[in-house]
Amino acid sequence: MKKETIAIHSGMESDGTHGDVVPPIHKSTIFKHRKGKEGAAGYNYTRAGNPNRTQLEQQLAALESGSDAAAFSSGVAASSAVFQALEPGDHVLAPEDVYHGTRELLNELMRRWGLEINFVDMTDVGAVDRAMQDNTKLIWIESPSNPMLYITDIGSVCEMAGDETEVCVDNTWPTPVNQRPLEFGADLVVHSTTKYLGGHSDVLGGAVIAATSSNLYERIESIQSMAGAVPSPSNCWLLSRSIRTLPYRVRAHNENARQLAEFLEAHSKIEEVYYPGLKSHDSYELARRQMEGPGGMISFLVDGTEEEAKEVIWQSQLITPATSLGGVESTWEHRLSSEGEGSQTPGNMIRISVGLEHVDDLASDLERALGVLD
Ligand SMILES: Cc1ncc(COP(=O)(O)O)c(C=O)c1O
Repeated sequence: MKKETIAIHSGMESDGTHGDVVPPIHKSTIFKHRKGKEGAAGYNYTRAGNPNRTQLEQQLAALESGSDAAAFSSGVAASSAVFQALEPGDHVLAPEDVYHGTRELLNELMRRWGLEINFVDMTDVGAVDRAMQDNTKLIWIESPSNPMLYITDIGSVCEMAGDETEVCVDNTWPTPVNQRPLEFGADLVVHSTTKYLGGHSDVLGGAVIAATSSNLYERIESIQSMAGAVPSPSNCWLLSRSIRTLPYRVRAHNENARQLAEFLEAHSKIEEVYYPGLKSHDSYELARRQMEGPGGMISFLVDGTEEEAKEVIWQSQLITPATSLGGVESTWEHRLSSEGEGSQTPGNMIRISVGLEHVDDLASDLERALGVLD
């Protein structure tokens, strides 16, 4: 089946008691025991499993072409579970331009867990190969990266990694509509479902999806229930509901972003635009090969100072000054301010999450806001 059909129908079977077309929200934390069986219909206690979570996990696995999925209470909880499934002493390679929350998690928490971590230029497969060690157990990819939109050749890294090293791709930005890393040989995919999958800036969540069941994935599943960072049944339900329209939303995000990126590139007050759908992007051809659409995120440098870039943000009347991404409403932020100390992000960079408003209204708003640089 095609992804539009999968998004609408996967995981939607109801238990049949009342004939609900949309499954109800199962708020009960406990499930009645049956003599000789642990729990009714395989459920016992909601931290270990819940019908709404199962529904969401089935949808996610199907959309990413995976065999299994585990839903978490946030994107970083999902990433943590992957890192915690490794053994102290294992080595991890991550991109230099990784989401700053993942960098913090690795540096502040996972080093204390005993992981050895190196950050490399993931746009250069040779550099990744040279950084490999005997104890390298995981390569973490984020493509496009946050916030520089660097592209990693997922298939080549997977081939180079071989059987002993797992490859996990943070697929939050492209979503399975634009990119399916498991089809390129990745072992795991991670999501912050808070972003495009939720799509309406009203639910926090995360997920790990596995290509096939493996020892590593089994450990991730046991961390899900043992460490307990699980999403509530209501949040699972909300996510499942939103995912049903994901393919249509993402295509519209792609189209609006493509037009706005062209608008920005032609603008006299813009120094540089980072968007993989532009021919000027360093990895335009690679992005075309491994992505079905360039996504809804654009970063750009204004022709001005850090202070001037900050001032631009406050001039918009439509684009909301806010962090995060993937909602139906457009948001933007001065990225360095959000990342804080130690960040390599240029001071004159603005990151925009292009929403689903009419693109003409967004372009007018950008024109107005950039007018402050005159
Ligand atoms: C690429 C990426 N991965 C992971 C996360 C973390 O997700 P969450 O905020 O849901 O924990 C984010 C959040 O911005 C992100 O942009």
